[in-house]
Amino acid sequence: MRRQNKNKGSTPFFSHGRGTKKKRELTPRSKAMKQPTVLMGICAGIAAYKTCDMISRMRQEKINVIVCMSKDSHHFVTPLTLQTLSGNRVFQEMFQLQQDWDPVHISLATQADAILVAPATSNIISKIACGICDDLLTCAIASTNAPVIFAPAMNKAMYKNKILQSNIARLKSLNYSFVGPVKGRLACGTHGIGHVAATEDIIKQVKTLLK
Ligand SMILES: Cc1cc2nc3c(=O)[nH]c(=O)nc-3n(C[C@H](O)[C@H](O)[C@H](O)COP(=O)(O)O)c2cc1C
Repeated sequence: MRRQNKNKGSTPFFSHGRGTKKKRELTPRSKAMKQPTVLMGICAGIAAYKTCDMISRMRQEKINVIVCMSKDSHHFVTPLTLQTLSGNRVFQEMFQLQQDWDPVHISLATQADAILVAPATSNIISKIACGICDDLLTCAIASTNAPVIFAPAMNKAMYKNKILQSNIARLKSLNYSFVGPVKGRLACGTHGIGHVAATEDIIKQVKTLLK
């Protein structure tokens, strides 16, 4: 199946499951330190501020984190903060000229040992379920062979929306993973399902995908 790491159980923690094909390194850190690389997709939701803590904790767990922001997520968390916390360049723009010729979305997709989308908006979940590739993050997710996990967060009614639920079911049937959401206090002032999962639960699931 496409989402599973084919080398599971037979290769080191940082294997990306693509045989011997050499990864294109956008950042030298993972190579130098032999750390697994998580491509972290950050979307435009209030819970984006929690990704700062997620990144710090992953780095403490010796996971190399490369951030790829959706085009609107900078309204909720700044690239400067994410760059400082991750210790890596932050990616957002697909059509920016690069120093080398590689399309960035392919480089990110190839370099990732796992992709974590947190917070995952209704928008990105539905776009991926429909095969839409209209920004760097959706293109990277569509181009990867690495396992992908979504940590949805949104308003209760938005989460219960039948179209979103059918898109989630479709992605689950295609071996995409989900962690949360959970019940809790929501940014809109109500209480219910839609709160982003606890950081430790998200990281635990990511580490499982990296094994
Ligand atoms: C203040 C505010 C908070 C929002 N919070 C969420 C949220 O928690 N979850 C969600 O799915 N959408 C939320 N949205 C809507 C998204 O920002 C919007 O759908 C956006 O297009 C998502 O873009 P992205 O998926 O490319 O990041 C919020 C919008 C605003 C203005």
